[in-house]
Amino acid sequence: MRVAIASDHGGLNLKQEIIRLLEEKKVIFKDFGATSVCGSVDYPDYAFLVAQKVADGEYDRGILICGTGIGMSIAANKVSGVRCALVHDTFSARATRQHNDSNILAMGERVIGFGLAKDIVEIWLSEEFEGQRHENRVNKIKQYERQVTRSDG
Ligand code: RB5
Repeated sequence: MRVAIASDHGGLNLKQEIIRLLEEKKVIFKDFGATSVCGSVDYPDYAFLVAQKVADGEYDRGILICGTGIGMSIAANKVSGVRCALVHDTFSARATRQHNDSNILAMGERVIGFGLAKDIVEIWLSEEFEGQRHENRVNKIKQYERQVTRSDG
C-alpha cells in the first residue's frame, strides 16, 4: 500500500509522529509537505495535492492533518473519487473503512492526543471494506460524481 501524507502548519507535529509510525510499520509513503520552514500555509493546497494523487491512483490512501482536520476534509472531499473521513476515535476509524471505503483519513492535531491518533491510523490502514450493502451505497456516491462531472462538461 502506498500512502500520501500532508499537513499544514497546524498539523505538522502530529504528521511527524504518524510518519515515524509509517516508517516503523514499513508502509510505503511520501510526505507532500508542509515542512517547518514553510511557515503558515493554506490547508486546501495540501488537501488538493494529496486528494488528486489518490484520485489518480498514484497512491492508494491519503492522510491529511491540520489543526482540526475539518478544513482538510472539506477540501479533499471536493475531489472526485475521494472519500475523506474526519476521524477522532477508533470506532469511526474502523467503521469508515468497513462501510464507506474511505480512501483519505483526516485528523486534527489540536483535537486528539498522539497515542490515539496512531491507533486510529493503524486501524484505518488495516481494516477492509465490507462491500455488500455498503458497496451499493458507495456506488451511489460514485454515480452522483459521474453525473456532476458530465453536467459540468
Ligand atoms: C490553521 O490555523 C487552521 O485553521 C487549520 O489548521 C485547520 O484547523 C483548518 O481547518
